[in-house]
This record gives sequence, structure tokens and C-alpha cells, in this order.
Amino acid sequence: MRSLYRSKKVDGLVAEISHEEKAIPVMQKFLKEVIVSSEIGLVVEIGTATGGWTLLAHEVEPNITILTFDIESIADSKKRQRVTPRQAIAVQRHLDKTDRVQRFIGNCFSGCNCQILNTVLKLSFAKLLYCDGGDKKREMLEFGPLLNSGDILGVHDWVTDVSHSDKIQSFLLPFRPLPINSEFVSAGGSSRFFMKR
Ligand SMILES: C[S@@+](CC[C@H](N)C(=O)[O-])C[C@H]1O[C@@H](n2cnc3c(N)ncnc32)[C@H](O)[C@@H]1O
Repeated sequence: MRSLYRSKKVDGLVAEISHEEKAIPVMQKFLKEVIVSSEIGLVVEIGTATGGWTLLAHEVEPNITILTFDIESIADSKKRQRVTPRQAIAVQRHLDKTDRVQRFIGNCFSGCNCQILNTVLKLSFAKLLYCDGGDKKREMLEFGPLLNSGDILGVHDWVTDVSHSDKIQSFLLPFRPLPINSEFVSAGGSSRFFMKR
């Protein structure tokens, strides 16, 4: 379900986000708490799509650096359903204006982008990796092991796309699930977060 995320800072700026509408404010609050309490210095998102979660994360903590990866640009996103091309271009231009958000176009599993992910995810300061690309399970399994103690691993569509397979269960042994507010779950929030022990 794609909802609309209305910018809190720029009049008329609207992005699409893969979250239930009611889960958006709870996600904002949760992200703010996690970023502050875990002293996150870098957010890495796999799956920019139309930039909704990117814009939300940027507005939650405008000073944090966000690297976001997708095989397509925001303006060309095939995920676009609810905003016009002009609105999608406005989001892309807005995000490109800040040096806090860097967009990377290309496959996260190969080439330059894969190398960038392999480098930044090993950096020693605290990071939040949000897996919301085309194959979340593979993203978790390939990039999660690069994270250091205290880093956060987030995944979208936990129940529908990732679930509790034995492989994921054993992969998550070095992680501690972060408590998710029941309000978030009842609002349809399907992201889950884990901290590397
Ligand atoms: C579910 S959408 C992301 C939604 C976005 N995070 C949001 O909240 O609005 C998944 C995105 O992953 C991208 N994607 C799929 N496979 C990819 C890959 N191998 N590398 C990078 N991005 C990929 C797709 O183009 C698509 O835009």
C-alpha cells in the first residue's frame, strides 16, 4: 500500500511512501528515537523508489547523512502510483539540493553501488541500514553481516517479504529485535528493526 507523505518543511512537497498512512507518524517518532538513542551518524536505504521514506528520514533528522540506492531515479520510478511526474521531480530536486542526501542509481548487488555499500557499512560510527529494495531477504543476508555492534538493521515488509524462515532466524542471532510499538503494528506498520549485539 503506497501512501502520501506530505513534507513537514516545504509547502506542497508530496512524496509516496510504502507505508500505511496511519503508520507514518509512528515511524517518524520511532526513527527519531532510534537515531538519537543509538547515536546514528549515517542512514543507508536500499530502495529509494519515489523518495518517500528518504524524505521522511531527512525531515526527522535533517543533519544526518542519508545514502539511498535504487536501480532507477525518483523521477523514473516504476513504483510511482499516487503522485504526478512533476511532483516526483520536485521531490528529487528537493533531495538533490541538500548535501545530506546522496542518491545512487544502479543495482545494489553489483558494480560500484555494491562496492560503496560494502565500504560504508563497515565504517566505525553507528549506522542504520534500511532494506526496502527488490529482494529484502538477500539485502539483509548480504549487507547485514557488514554491520558493527550497535548498528541498526531495518527491514520493510517483514511478514510478507522476509518472514521467519530458519535462515533468517539464524542470521538474526547476533541481533536484538527493537521493541515495536503496538500502535505501529495496529496502524499497519510492517517494518522491523534489529540492533547488532
Ligand atoms: C518497495 S520500493 C522502495 C520503497 C521506498 N523505500 C519507500 O518507502 O517509498 C523498492 C525499490 O527497490 C528498487 N530495487 C529493486 N531491486 C533493486 C536492486 N537490485 N538494487 C537497488 N534497488 C532495487 C526498485 O526499483 C524499487 O524502487
